[in-house]
Amino acid sequence: MKFLITGGAGFIGSNYLHYVTDKYNDDYFVCLDALTYAGNYNNIKDLEGKDNYKFVKGDITDRAFIDKLFCDEKFDVVINFAAESHVDNSIKNPEIFLVTNIIGTEILMDASLKYNVKRYHQVSTDEVYGDLPLDRPDLLFTESTPLHTSSPYSTSKASADLLVMAYYRTYGLPVTISRCSNNYGPYQFPEKLIPLTIMKALNNENIPVYGTGENVRDWIHVYDHNIGVDLIVRKGKIGEVYNLGGHSERPNIEIVKLILKQMNKSEDLITFVEDRKGHDLRYAIDSSKVEKELGWKRTYDFERGIKETIDWYLNNKEWINDIKSGRYKESYKG
Ligand SMILES: NC(=O)c1ccc[n+]([C@@H]2O[C@H](COP(=O)([O-])OP(=O)(O)OC[C@H]3O[C@@H](n4cnc5c(N)ncnc54)[C@H](O)[C@@H]3O)[C@@H](O)[C@H]2O)c1
Repeated sequence: MKFLITGGAGFIGSNYLHYVTDKYNDDYFVCLDALTYAGNYNNIKDLEGKDNYKFVKGDITDRAFIDKLFCDEKFDVVINFAAESHVDNSIKNPEIFLVTNIIGTEILMDASLKYNVKRYHQVSTDEVYGDLPLDRPDLLFTESTPLHTSSPYSTSKASADLLVMAYYRTYGLPVTISRCSNNYGPYQFPEKLIPLTIMKALNNENIPVYGTGENVRDWIHVYDHNIGVDLIVRKGKIGEVYNLGGHSERPNIEIVKLILKQMNKSEDLITFVEDRKGHDLRYAIDSSKVEKELGWKRTYDFERGIKETIDWYLNNKEWINDIKSGRYKESYKG
């Protein structure tokens, strides 16, 4: 089968490509990425030369380009990882989030319909469900929890999810959606909590923590997210949504302290800053549907995953420095 993987130079997409290009020699993977500020060709450089892989630079919001790509390549499966993904940016500038995350999804689905794609998979987020109170640990998001968003980012993702279901119902596009909790692991752009903390700590810089740091996220290793996406794409039922979660709820401040401890750095680096506008309190996800129906199982417990992840960043300081200096923008020579 021929796969289109959009957003493959980003954090989750690049991890996905490493996983599937090794695992499936008989499938072919085309990575499409616009290489925005969050796209880092260094993440996928080592895939160059693989027989079952190629990279194409391009924008999912460019309708004529996408139409031609689909016409030329005849994809069987489309997995849409491409997105503007940083909540803070969406608060400063919502429009690009609406264009990339909603219109981009629409353009990919139009091409999927026109060229008879057998499966369109939308990579979504638990943030579409809004947040849960801190004092009700019994409450979890299930696939039937109403969409109830807080930020322009989560609203754009929820809008795209609704559109995906509309394309299924109205046009019969064979779709699936996965909604995952906060990912951690290698190749994450250091604007997000874990790599940001590591980068700042390496340079003995202040580490900004929103509010009191008590907001709770459910953390999942990116590998476990990706084995879930792979399973849903190959075995999931058309028209269904599947939640994927790490079963590892932790307050942000605990994550920051854990990283500082492993790096032997002082907690004095922590600087509490004004809370994010509309900051979601707690995310927690019930993944029992994908576990029961498709046999998905997490392979990482949080303690092992976070330790390996911190080690990865410490062993890949050049990767971090390339981002800090802006050199990563020149990593694609194509
Ligand atoms: N990071 C998380 O914790 C998390 C959790 C759940 C779901 N998700 C979802 O997973 C997906 C991937 O997230 P991520 O953390 O890897 O994001 P990321 O920001 O690291 O990567 C996004 C990638 O998309 C590319 N891109 C952006 N606009 C594009 C466009 N118009 N055309 C083509 N490519 C474009 C970027 O260049 C980048 O390589 C997103 O859809 C996100 O909403 C992320």
